[in-house]
Amino acid sequence: MALEAGIVVKALQVMRDEGHLSDALLRKAVRSVAESDDERYHWVGVYLLNEADQELWLHNYVGPGTEHSKIPVGKGICGRAVAERTNLNVPDVSKEENYIACQMETQSELIVLIRAGDEIYGQIDIDSDDMDAFTEEDETSLMAIADKLAEQIAAERRKE
Ligand code: SME
Repeated sequence: MALEAGIVVKALQVMRDEGHLSDALLRKAVRSVAESDDERYHWVGVYLLNEADQELWLHNYVGPGTEHSKIPVGKGICGRAVAERTNLNVPDVSKEENYIACQMETQSELIVLIRAGDEIYGQIDIDSDDMDAFTEEDETSLMAIADKLAEQIAAERRKE
């Protein structure tokens, strides 16, 4: 099975139209991504950026439990993506100096930022037990989903 980003984005928009908040959309997105490819996506989660503490806080995930519920900006692959304001596709995590292991089985990792322009809200994080598991297509699909999530988060923040 492959990730059908268009279908996920539409489902998220339907939820927005029905008045669901980002919390529900973030859970739906993680579940949909995880279910789309359980042969490559072995852990899927969302971390949200806590600006005040400069930490990523784990919002929700599908996969084995992890003790890394809070990751400082700049630490790990997750924190590096935020510090460098970029998505990261790491084909071999054992070659990454700044890697924080959640599961021993993980071999590759993809981070796609949830952002609206310069504003970073968080990230979608996927771990795979396969080496070099992620393609540009994965990144593009996840960016479409991340953009829809960012739209909702931005709308909620404007109302605060
Ligand atoms: N590997 C990540 C930590 C998060 S876990 O993959 C769930 C990192 O290096 O930042």
